[in-house]
Amino acid sequence: MTAPPAAAIQVRRLTYADLPQVVAIERRAFTSPWSLAMFVLELSKASGICLAAEIEGELVGYTICSRYDTVWHIMNVAVDPETRRRGIATALLERLLERVAPDSQLTLEVRKSNDGAIALYERFGFRAAGVRRRYYQDNGEDALIMWRTPATQRGSLDDVPGMP
Ligand SMILES: CC(C)(COP(=O)(O)OP(=O)(O)OC[C@H]1O[C@@H](n2cnc3c(N)ncnc32)[C@H](O)[C@@H]1OP(=O)(O)O)[C@@H](O)C(=O)NCCC(=O)NCCS
Repeated sequence: MTAPPAAAIQVRRLTYADLPQVVAIERRAFTSPWSLAMFVLELSKASGICLAAEIEGELVGYTICSRYDTVWHIMNVAVDPETRRRGIATALLERLLERVAPDSQLTLEVRKSNDGAIALYERFGFRAAGVRRRYYQDNGEDALIMWRTPATQRGSLDDVPGMP
């Protein structure tokens, strides 16, 4: 007998109506979770890309991406702890990348200790290109600054802003 197919992951636009479930996941995913007001602010930005992932109609993950000038900043990615390692963050990032121009520059900050997230981003062509010292106020941890640009996808940091 073959195993039943994994439940399909649906990715769609995140809406204000999703925010109660988003905040619930956020609190389980982070030691310093965003407040409801922070999500409302990001959703109100016309140029942002905010996506929700669902399995069988239940919200299981989300991503928030904002554009500042020409650069896209991935501000938040989180998946319900009970549904991790099933490709949900991958599905969200794939859909996000489909929505930005192919030669776009994207950046994000991630805790230096967050090996799982760093591995996920590296799979998508993000590369570490700097550190923000003591960026996280809860424990003073450094942030790794990661970029995904045409150059990082070729293994170079040539076109990363701020690099010598
Ligand atoms: C990081 C996070 C978003 C990943 O979500 P996910 O849906 O489990 O990720 P995926 O299933 O798409 O993982 C894709 C790949 O990323 C890497 N990866 C993801 N989580 C990992 C982990 N905990 N350890 C090691 N590698 C990991 C693996 O290469 C994985 O592929 P594999 O499962 O075939 O080995 C999720 O663990 C999470 O919400 N963490 C807490 C919040 C957070 O840290 N967000 C990022 C802030 S910058």
